[in-house]
Amino acid sequence: MTPGFRRFRTTRVDEKTRTAFRETVLYADDFIWPVFCVDGRGRKEEISSMPEVYRLSADVLIDTLYPLVEKGLRSVMLFGVPNSKGIEQAWNDSGIVQQFIPQLKEQFPELGIITDVCICSYSNDGHCHIGDNDRTGEILAKIALSHARAGADIVAPSAMMDGQVYYIRKELESEGFDDVKIMSYAAKFASSYYSPFRNAADCTPQSGDRSGYQMDPANGNEAMEEIEEDIRQGADSVIVKPALAYLDIVNRASDMFSVPVIAYNVSGEYSLLLKGVRDGLINEQVILETLLSVKRAGAQRTISYFVPFVFGRDGVLEKRSVSAFAVGS
Ligand code: PBG
Ligand code: ZN
Repeated sequence: MTPGFRRFRTTRVDEKTRTAFRETVLYADDFIWPVFCVDGRGRKEEISSMPEVYRLSADVLIDTLYPLVEKGLRSVMLFGVPNSKGIEQAWNDSGIVQQFIPQLKEQFPELGIITDVCICSYSNDGHCHIGDNDRTGEILAKIALSHARAGADIVAPSAMMDGQVYYIRKELESEGFDDVKIMSYAAKFASSYYSPFRNAADCTPQSGDRSGYQMDPANGNEAMEEIEEDIRQGADSVIVKPALAYLDIVNRASDMFSVPVIAYNVSGEYSLLLKGVRDGLINEQVILETLLSVKRAGAQRTISYFVPFVFGRDGVLEKRSVSAFAVGS
């Protein structure tokens, strides 16, 4: 007895059935956790613009990572936040990021280490370049090389300089680091969603903004060209950033290119959502629903500050495994 319509609801009757028909499932290794690194010991500094995110010294980060790695966290992305400015620190072999890498490797040999490669947290003016595009490219290459020497698995240039992947690939190869991967911030838009991060990483531009080098939020086709060009220069994977207001870009890129497309669920997306949850404006399930949307759009991995929540450490999503959950409710 076939009615004149399909009974979709038969696949929705209970959780067991919904699980069987679910198209997109989040797993622990979908996530990359971005962390703010400071030197010294015992430091855990609150970041006013990002609730429950901290700047951590290596010992505190290691303690924080144990339960997350146990639950399946596979990679972190390191941002160095120096005590005082000076761009030379960015490529100093005993700089902050360079010191963190071997300590993390020792404790967590299986953890993938990705480093952000830029100068804006180190420069006096808070910009991602020194004025000249190509000389900045050479500086980014020096930074990437020192991260590689310290043991980074993947370097992630975020300065949006033209040719940055080219300069880095050339430097890494000439020094014998052929196996260090480049995850390029290929389609990075000039976004207001970064403002909480700038407080966290102390990289607010002292004058002007970043729209002279980061992409115009209006340009989807150009994002595809940026990505294509970075792959040509030797990028192994590409980042689309931010994620949520740019899910169309994530989707187009994942359809168009065969390298992994990584979405960066940025600071503003995190802080707005978490504040909404904390203030009781919206159900906490919205966090998983949002992260699910990024994967459904086509992201192969998601860089997200929500990792401690998703992995059930700090409570909001406790007892919910990452691999099976129902959104909504
Ligand atoms: C700087 C950098 C930024 C982010 C990552 N690297 C900020 C910016 O470009 O102004 C943003 C990350 C976030 O908002 O979570 N190179
Ligand atoms: Zn920068």
